[in-house]
Amino acid sequence: MAATLNGLVLSVLVFVLFLTHSASGKHSRLIRHYKFDIKLKNVTRLCHTKSLITVNGQFPGPAIVAREGDRVIVKVTNHISNNVSIHWHGIRQLRSGWADGPAYITQCPIQNGQSYKYKFTITGQRGTLWWHAHISWLRSSLYGPIIIYHKKNASYPFPKPHKEVPIIFGEWWNADTETVINQAMKNGGGPNVSDAYTINGLPGPLYNCSTKDTFKLKVIPGKTYLLRIINAALNDELFFSIANHTMTIVETDAVYVKPFQSNTILISPGQTTNVLLTTKSQPPKARFLMYARPYVTGGGTFDNSTVAGILEYAFPNTTAGKFPLIKPVLPALNDTSFATNFSKKMRSLTPPPVPQTVDKRFLFTIGLGLNPCTPGQTCQGPNGTMFGASINNISFVMPTTALLQAHFFGRSKGVYNRTFPDNPPFLFNFTGTPPNNTRTLFDTRVKTIPFNTRVELVLQDTSIVGPESHPLHLHGFNFFIVGQGVGNYNASSDPSKFNLVDPPERNTVGVPSGGWVALRFKADNPGVWFMHCHLEAHTSWGLKMAWVVLNGNGKSQSLPPPPKDLPSC
Ligand code: C2O
Repeated sequence: MAATLNGLVLSVLVFVLFLTHSASGKHSRLIRHYKFDIKLKNVTRLCHTKSLITVNGQFPGPAIVAREGDRVIVKVTNHISNNVSIHWHGIRQLRSGWADGPAYITQCPIQNGQSYKYKFTITGQRGTLWWHAHISWLRSSLYGPIIIYHKKNASYPFPKPHKEVPIIFGEWWNADTETVINQAMKNGGGPNVSDAYTINGLPGPLYNCSTKDTFKLKVIPGKTYLLRIINAALNDELFFSIANHTMTIVETDAVYVKPFQSNTILISPGQTTNVLLTTKSQPPKARFLMYARPYVTGGGTFDNSTVAGILEYAFPNTTAGKFPLIKPVLPALNDTSFATNFSKKMRSLTPPPVPQTVDKRFLFTIGLGLNPCTPGQTCQGPNGTMFGASINNISFVMPTTALLQAHFFGRSKGVYNRTFPDNPPFLFNFTGTPPNNTRTLFDTRVKTIPFNTRVELVLQDTSIVGPESHPLHLHGFNFFIVGQGVGNYNASSDPSKFNLVDPPERNTVGVPSGGWVALRFKADNPGVWFMHCHLEAHTSWGLKMAWVVLNGNGKSQSLPPPPKDLPSC
């Protein structure tokens, strides 16, 4: 805790020092300057020391702190041998797609010795988001919070909290995660799982050797705390609960929601959830454990361990450390009905601009596949196959140059083609018995749509290999979750049940295991926008695609040319 908080305090200091005013317009806005130096740092967890890839030697990385309307400039310099790029997860990047960050989608990676300045303005968003590396599995240690305060003349739609505390879940591997994923991609099997989950980088007392590495939340009675919860884990959706305390969910993915209470929250990789925690009016003679552990629907091996932190009331002149520890009760690891009910409670606080009519409808199947083993190899997927994953049966192949550059300069030939299918290539009972042939097609395909297209996108889970919940993330937009259900989506009967009034607005949605989710968004942001499963194993297997949103009319609807320092491949 000390290390993390120092890190936060330090980075807040740094940002204060670098603040500058920009005189553009009537209201001056702030420019927040940050310097991210990517470097190695020895870090010890579970009595295991490894050389970790970090920002500025901090793990987790520093917080970006800004106010709605501010401009953020982060100079990222790469001092390590791996290529790097950083994504500002959930930031809309209106006409600033060059700063989005996914490697080979909006930019070539930053190579050793190079720098790139990410420049973007935070428009119409306030709350919690996060940043992370967006190349291979480097985000296992390269991640941190983005904290966006509301505008100066605005206020929270809830009582001002006494304190605000970031809570970031991560995963710790004793092994080198690049080796883990490279081996898995070679042998076709599921990648090795992590050794621990972490809260703010700390695994906590349930792990070997880790009692000293426990996150402690010290509180005083009768106060309300705002917890800014982020799931930065690589491969696991997580349940989170604090013993004997109820949380009030007030914001998700930097959008306010109608407040509701829950003892447990479910949070997928990529998602952020702000909750209010009101402490007891009298200090209890107990300490309260907070647990996070996975929600698992797939069939493979997973890290079934639990990270614990401690909620501790300040007691003058006593040793609170001796009070008994109370444990929270979490849903079962596979509690899909909890997942369904929890997501159904989400509503936007104020009626959002949901497209009431639609220009273009898409049905995308999401799921796994099994591909033949590379000749001459032995493969560790089911029956000697190799795992694949796809959208509409296409396993996306990463290009070797950035899609956005290819698009902008009209040089798409040999980089990508525009044939991404609007619908599954063949129909089957998606959530029933899988077809005999479960091979996927490897290609780099995009879906091109005109500026301002009102899109309806249904994401349909398949039961190929097994039904599974997939947290799908869309870059460059928030979408409205207008419907969800179990089984196969029915285009004639399901739309009548859509919520077009106050649906939740997010950037990452859990596609229900063995079910579907319907999204709407307006393609008002020109550029190339990645969409992928935020379970890193599935992304590696190809569960990703890109939207190309064309320019509209004139400058205000067009993507400006790339900055001069954009890295080349
Ligand atoms: Cu949080 Cu494409 O990423």
